[in-house]
Amino acid sequence: MSVAISHIEDTPLQETLYQFDESPLLARQRQQESNARSYPRRIPLALKRAKGLYVEDVEGRRFIDCLAGAGTLALGHNHAVVIEAIQQVLSDELPLHTLDLTTPVKDQFVQDLFGLLPAELAREAKIQFCGPTGTDAVEAALKLVRTATGRSTVLSFQGGYHGMSQGALSLMGSLGPKKPLGALLGNGVQFLPYPYDYRCPFGLGGAEGVRVNLHYLENLLNDPEAGVLLPAAVIVEAVQGEGGVIPADLDWLRGLRRITEQAGVALIVDEIQSGFGRTGKMFAFEHAGIIPDVVVMSKAIGGSLPLAVVVYRDWLDTWLPGAHAGTFRGNQMAMAAGSAVMRYLKEHDLAGHAAAMGERLGEHLRILQRDFPQLGDIRGRGLMLGVELVDPNGKPDVQGHPPVHRQLAPLVQRECLKRGLILELGGRHGSVVRFLPPLVITGAEVDRVAEIFGRALAAAVASL
Ligand SMILES: Cc1ncc(COP(=O)(O)O)c(C=O)c1O
Repeated sequence: MSVAISHIEDTPLQETLYQFDESPLLARQRQQESNARSYPRRIPLALKRAKGLYVEDVEGRRFIDCLAGAGTLALGHNHAVVIEAIQQVLSDELPLHTLDLTTPVKDQFVQDLFGLLPAELAREAKIQFCGPTGTDAVEAALKLVRTATGRSTVLSFQGGYHGMSQGALSLMGSLGPKKPLGALLGNGVQFLPYPYDYRCPFGLGGAEGVRVNLHYLENLLNDPEAGVLLPAAVIVEAVQGEGGVIPADLDWLRGLRRITEQAGVALIVDEIQSGFGRTGKMFAFEHAGIIPDVVVMSKAIGGSLPLAVVVYRDWLDTWLPGAHAGTFRGNQMAMAAGSAVMRYLKEHDLAGHAAAMGERLGEHLRILQRDFPQLGDIRGRGLMLGVELVDPNGKPDVQGHPPVHRQLAPLVQRECLKRGLILELGGRHGSVVRFLPPLVITGAEVDRVAEIFGRALAAAVASL
């Protein structure tokens, strides 16, 4: 098979900067697509082809893709094993659509997935295939825990992101997309402070911030005057992604597991973004050695194609037949591609590789931080990394940290794009630059990403 786009290391650093005049395709997109469109506003590219870490636009310009389908493309674009799996489905004339009927491909997919789970969970795991996208699996998880516990409310975390359908949206920390809609699950969702160490909701940080956070939660669940009904579940990201790449302290995660277990509350871990090796373990909850009751998965699990599942412990399996359904639950191509990705991840220890590459990228960023105090907090796990950009001249907060810089992150993003590097933003006020490259990124490629980022940062800071 011919490789459409040459390897990144063959491409010299750009001398001339890309300019972004609106092309006819982009102009038509702006006119015809909803005002809700998001990525094209900051990444105004019309893409033509892609391979590995690279995408090429219709004008023949190459970009390093450290967005990778919002963390979906564990093996990068069009990896040989993914393409082969898809081609096999076609050449075998498999039914492309099967509702939730089983097939050898589906059976293999489940075996591959359960083979990646911690043994303690795999032994009693049940799986439900959901409608094709992450938010569908979150909806299913909500229904599941409500049905099994007979309770209707859920606790979620400030800064959390679980999708855009109305139930999942009600779990979201960010107010922007929720405000125009008014009540979603009404007061069925109560928000808790997340252990955001750099901007500790209790103004403490460190071990003390974690201790107080857990005490607050334990008190809330056990105080008969708390004003909060005992919930069906707590839903959490072990590393908040869209919320600004915030890794939860591992002792905190263990405490959360202990407290929810003691209270008889299901713990749902949303691994849609952090799962499948991204954080340096197959699943981000494994860093803490905990076993959730429910794990929600999507993105990488479909090997670039839409697929979402919820995996849960046996005690929750009280759904009646047909309690959760959906037409597009049998995407054979996505299952075949997902199986190929899962096997490749395991055989090549890409979780270990992601840990090493994340460490390497983090080291580059920490070196840059010596010259750029605007890099306030460098954080994350594995290849789920982020940098919170701050205004070093602003008034420090109660923890002594400078305030976020509201203009700088979009400038850095733009300067990166001009130099051929696609990065996304997240966090409060979009002030966190996020690195979500494919897990197959090499050391030399990491160095290249860091070099471009450094140049872009210097240009952005100079332009302030
Ligand atoms: C942690 C998490 N949960 C849920 C979702 C929603 O997934 P989807 O956009 O596929 O509906 C996302 C998407 O970014 C996510 O990062």
